[in-house]
Amino acid sequence: VSLFDSVAGAAAKARDLIGDRLSDLVEYDLIEDKASITARIDVAEDLAAALKDAIYVQESAFERVDVKQALFFDIDKVIGKDTLVGSSSSGIPSPAFTEHVACRDRVLIAHQDNPPYLVPVVELVPAPWTSPDTARKVRALMVRVGQKPVETTREIEDFILNRLQGVLLMEAWKLVADGLVSAADVDRTIADGLGLRWGFMGPFETIDLNAPGGVADYARRLGPLYQSIAASRATHDVWDDTLIADVERQRRAILPVGKLGERTAWRDRRLMKLAKARAMSLDE
Ligand SMILES: NC(=O)c1ccc[n+]([C@@H]2O[C@H](COP(=O)([O-])OP(=O)(O)OC[C@H]3O[C@@H](n4cnc5c(N)ncnc54)[C@H](O)[C@@H]3O)[C@@H](O)[C@H]2O)c1
Repeated sequence: VSLFDSVAGAAAKARDLIGDRLSDLVEYDLIEDKASITARIDVAEDLAAALKDAIYVQESAFERVDVKQALFFDIDKVIGKDTLVGSSSSGIPSPAFTEHVACRDRVLIAHQDNPPYLVPVVELVPAPWTSPDTARKVRALMVRVGQKPVETTREIEDFILNRLQGVLLMEAWKLVADGLVSAADVDRTIADGLGLRWGFMGPFETIDLNAPGGVADYARRLGPLYQSIAASRATHDVWDDTLIADVERQRRAILPVGKLGERTAWRDRRLMKLAKARAMSLDE
């Protein structure tokens, strides 16, 4: 793996951070040999050096159309004729920055969740001009490196994961805005409730197992409840500044900004424990 970042020193810093995380992975028995992995990561002087002989490129620059457009023109100039490119774009559809590049049939969205080394899902979203061969090869590559690809059949703004998360967040903000519940109790409802099952199964399998007759039975029993929720939320509320300030105050009382990095490392270690437990039971 060859890393390149346009800010001098950023890629070297990333490599150090990866080293720290690899040490944690050793501690949790998720890898054995940190040194051989570190030895396979280098920091490139420039984009051309990073992409020389690359089989696959993961573009992860700012979430801005102008930045991605300019970068894709540069990538196009230096990659080989068979190199494939995935973009980490979180919601900008790839046609917005690949329409006019020559390699566009070899580009698709490959949107990882955070942190991708512990949360394996990756959304593969083709543009109208992405070749089926590109989609097939990137999918195979992701499987080989331990990611879990999901594929959309066609281009969609914001993809799947953020759409699902968006619906949940919209309701979470609204419940806090209405003064019905604290931000901490919303978090508890997921961490000690819904999220426990979501660690290994999705919403459809969850409801299929939550009624004696399966998903159709669940829909019959609880359909009216969900229809009533949908009707009560017919308007699209935005996250306004007052509400954001309120939740920010609640969160900062629990965790000061200066401790976010420490807590992120804590999150990753929890995910490592979970990964270990999942690895033991994955094929069950
Ligand atoms: N942070 C997340 O949780 C997350 C999850 C999934 C996808 N993404 C997506 O990944 C991309 C990057 O997100 P991030 O959170 O890492 O952003 P970030 O701002 O932390 O990092 C972006 C990096 O790209 C570098 N950069 C900008 N322009 C560049 C260029 N032309 N060439 C080389 N390097 C360049 C910047 O110097 C910076 O270090 C975005 O598209 C984002 O939406 C982020």
